Amino acid sequence: MDDKDLVRAALEAREKAYAPYSEYRVGAALITRSGRVYTGANVENASYGLSVCAERVAAFKAVSEGDREFEAIAVATGNGVLPCGACRQVLAEFGPDMRVIVADSEGNMRTYRLSELLPGRFTRADLR
Ligand code: THU
Repeated sequence: MDDKDLVRAALEAREKAYAPYSEYRVGAALITRSGRVYTGANVENASYGLSVCAERVAAFKAVSEGDREFEAIAVATGNGVLPCGACRQVLAEFGPDMRVIVADSEGNMRTYRLSELLPGRFTRADLR
């Protein structure tokens, strides 16, 4: 699967976003070293703070299936923005140098490395 396919999967996942409060819809498609793809969409709640981002839904689906080596994630929004800080930290645990492809609803894409988006990430070494 190439980056365009991954973006297509993220755009499709975005259709499943549950975002009645913000009306900001996000879709994600994460590919692991094994070549498997996990999708996610943001899921909001009437108790706002319980809402979960699309990227974390995809990440937790992968890890809970035993797939822990992240290669790339495509994130689709209406305006092609970058993942939030919390999601960057979660992704960095399983793919510190993974590619992050952001796309808008027209499919325009831009690629980054997670290491450039989150310098100084908190790691297990910091727990000592
Ligand atoms: N959201 C994501 O899904 N990913 C991000 O990286 C940023 C924000 C969602 C959370 C919430 O449902 C909506 O976008 C507005 O913040």
